[in-house]
Amino acid sequence: MFDNFSPAYSTHKGAAYIGDSKELLAELPDGSINLVMTSPPFALQRQKAYGNLDQHEYIDWFLDFARLVHRKLKNDGSFVVDFGGAYMKGVPARSLYNFRVMIRMVDELGFFLAEDFYWFNPSKLPSPIEWVNKRKLRVKDSVNTVWWFSKTEWPKSDITKVLAPYSDRMKKLIEDPDKFYTPKLRPSGHDIGTGFAKDNGGAIPPNLLQISNSESNGQYLSGCKAVGVKGHPARFPTKLPEFFIRMLTDPDDLVVDIFGGSNTTGQVAEAEGRRWMTFEALAEYVGASAFRFLDKGATPEAMKALYQRIVAGESVALEEHRRQSSLTL
Ligand SMILES: C[S@@+](CC[C@H](N)C(=O)[O-])C[C@H]1O[C@@H](n2cnc3c(N)ncnc32)[C@H](O)[C@@H]1O
Repeated sequence: MFDNFSPAYSTHKGAAYIGDSKELLAELPDGSINLVMTSPPFALQRQKAYGNLDQHEYIDWFLDFARLVHRKLKNDGSFVVDFGGAYMKGVPARSLYNFRVMIRMVDELGFFLAEDFYWFNPSKLPSPIEWVNKRKLRVKDSVNTVWWFSKTEWPKSDITKVLAPYSDRMKKLIEDPDKFYTPKLRPSGHDIGTGFAKDNGGAIPPNLLQISNSESNGQYLSGCKAVGVKGHPARFPTKLPEFFIRMLTDPDDLVVDIFGGSNTTGQVAEAEGRRWMTFEALAEYVGASAFRFLDKGATPEAMKALYQRIVAGESVALEEHRRQSSLTL
């Protein structure tokens, strides 16, 4: 799709690029993306390994990317952004940055808020340590806000692709409706008729997504170990992009992550048969993210060779690399 840039690596369905996503995005044709799924560097006070901007500047900085995303999305496209919450500097009072971003995206850039989601991560460690563990003034913050923006009021979406398993109670009800309820109009206005007990293949999921960020990430982390680098410090679990990719796109649609990190989004998009592009500023993160696409039995030597080629600026077609090193992969 790009004339001026070659990918750091590519697969059957997608490609990862090293660079500033603003420059890379600008190269894409307008109206070409179905879904941008991302998690930007957070506006936390604590400096992360990949650097951070002051909270005041953060929103303006982010909106510059969002403006471009708006141009590059198809009319029925979506932009899903995961924002971790934050405290103001030095005091136990919350920053409103994630809410301000949401309002400015709508008021200034013309996005619509299709729905607000909340990602509850039960395995999140308590933080900030000062307010939670030491002084015991605040409970642990285990919910991220995930805003689903759309370019028009009518983004493509199909919730039947993300139905949740039925509860045991609902399963029993479907098996034997007469035993459990009498059809009637509830005070809420919901008509609980006989159709209520129909098996629709699963329950409608809520906008509170409970996903533990405790995936093993085996292939990715063993690659990192083999080349002696740390795993990315702010990965999201595959279930998060999986939910939105399934609900908001069809096979062969284009999914882009503009703050790619370890390329969780690309891995899921590939598995779901979507085309994908991932942009990440740091070559080392991109190099390590390629491990996600290697066969299970890849040797440490093969992983090292691949990482070095990518970090040195070579453009690697993973299928080709796999064939060439078939003895060691
Ligand atoms: C929160 S992390 C994303 C983690 C990712 N979701 C994953 O699961 O691994 C944000 C990433 O954005 C990258 N980044 C920051 N500014 C960027 C820019 N201008 N262009 C491309 N990537 C950038 C950082 O290096 C960092 O890896």
